[in-house]
Amino acid sequence: MKIAPRLSFGGEFTVPGDKSITHRAIMFNAAAEGEAHVTGALLGEDCLSTASCMRALGARVEIEGECVRVRGTQAFRNVPLLDCGNSGTTIRLLAGLLAGRGVSAALTGDASLRSRPMERVAQPLRLLGADIRTTEGHAPLRIAPAPLCGCNVDTKVASAQVKSAVILAALGAEGETTVTEPQRSRDHTERMLAAMGADIRARGCTVTVRKSGLRAADVRVPADISSAAYFLVLGALRGEVLCKNVGVNPTRTGLLRVFDKMGVRYALENAYTECGEPVADIRVYRSPLQPLRLGAEEIPSLIDELPVIAVLCAFAEGESVISGAQELKVKESDRIASTAEMLNALGGNCVPTEDGFVIRGVRRLAGGRVRSLKDHRIAMSGAVALAASERGGEIEDAACSNISFPGFYGLMGVKGE
Ligand code: S3P
Repeated sequence: MKIAPRLSFGGEFTVPGDKSITHRAIMFNAAAEGEAHVTGALLGEDCLSTASCMRALGARVEIEGECVRVRGTQAFRNVPLLDCGNSGTTIRLLAGLLAGRGVSAALTGDASLRSRPMERVAQPLRLLGADIRTTEGHAPLRIAPAPLCGCNVDTKVASAQVKSAVILAALGAEGETTVTEPQRSRDHTERMLAAMGADIRARGCTVTVRKSGLRAADVRVPADISSAAYFLVLGALRGEVLCKNVGVNPTRTGLLRVFDKMGVRYALENAYTECGEPVADIRVYRSPLQPLRLGAEEIPSLIDELPVIAVLCAFAEGESVISGAQELKVKESDRIASTAEMLNALGGNCVPTEDGFVIRGVRRLAGGRVRSLKDHRIAMSGAVALAASERGGEIEDAACSNISFPGFYGLMGVKGE
C-alpha cells in the first residue's frame, strides 16, 4: 500500500465500532436468555471470529448490515475445535466462559495467536476448579467439564482479557469470586454484565462476582478510541480532526492524558452515556509537541495506542521515554521491536528497551518502507507516520488493518483501497 505525504490533513470522521465492546456484546448475549440487537458493531475479522465461534457453540448470530442479531443459548454444544483466528480477546474470554458450562472444547487460532501466552488465563481458571490445558503454555487450549467454586484471584498482569475470563467463569461458579489486578484494566465486561443482570461489583482494582444468569441486552457500540487514535494523531500533526461518537470510558482514554502531557490541544464535545459507556466527539488541533514520559500506571489505558503514540513522539522536540509497557511484547507482534523497527525504517530514532522505548524526536520523519509483520496496529501506525513524513512510502502486508478497522485506508483518503 502506497501512502503519499500529506501537508495538511483534517475533517470529520466516524471510525468503526469499539472492538472490545463488540466482542463482549456478541459473546455475552450468546450466553444470555433472549434476543438482542447489537448496533454499530465492528465487523472486523477479530469480531467475526467471535461471531463464528458463538454460532458453532449453538447461539444464533446473524449479521444484517451494521447490526448483529444474537439469540443466546443456555446449553453450549461440545465443539472439537474452535478457530479464534488472530483474536486474543476471543480465545481468552471464551476460555473463561466455557470453563464453567459443562462443555468440552478446544480453542485455537492463527500462527500469531498460537505464539501468545495462554497460561496467564489458564492458571487463574484452574484456581476456580476449571479443567483447562494449554499446549506448552500456548493454544490450542483444551477445556473439559468441571464444577467451579468461587475463590480470590490475584492476577499478575493488568489484563482485561484475563480479568474478564475469570469473571465469566465466576458467573458459573458456586459462591463468590473476587479478582484483583495490579492496575485497573478496561472495564467493559463489568459494565455490560451488570446491565445484563449479573451479580457483579467493582471497587478499585477488585471485582466481586456471584453465580448469575444473564438476560439479553441491546447494545449500541460507540466508535473505538483505539481506531480514532490514528486520525486524532494525524490531526495533531497535520490539521484539525473531529472523530464522532467515540467511547471515552476512563479506562480507555490514556491517549487524552498523553495529549495533555505533550501539549496537544483537543476538546470533548456532545458528551453522553450509551448502554453504561461514556461517549463523546473528540476534536483535536494541530499543535507543537513536547516530549512524553509514560510509566507503568498509565499503560493499561492506552496499551493498544502505544505504536501510534510512538509516532507522535517522533514529531516532538526532544527525548520521550515510555516504560512499564512490557505487555507490548506479547501482542499480535512484539510491539516493542516492531514499533521501533517501523520508526527507524522511516528515519526516526527509537531505541527499544526491556519495557518500552526511548524516542529521540526531531520533529520530522523522512519516509520509506514499513513491514507490518501482519500486525494491524503496526500497519495503521505506519500509515500515519508515512502520511506525516516528507516523502511518504509503502506498507508491506497492509491488509491486516481489516482485523480491527475495515476501510481504514479509504477513510484516510489513500487511493487504491
Ligand atoms: C482487550 C484487552 C487488551 C487489549 C486488546 C483488547 C480486551 O489486551 O490489548 O486489544 O478487549 O479485553 P490485554 O487484556 O491482554 O491487555
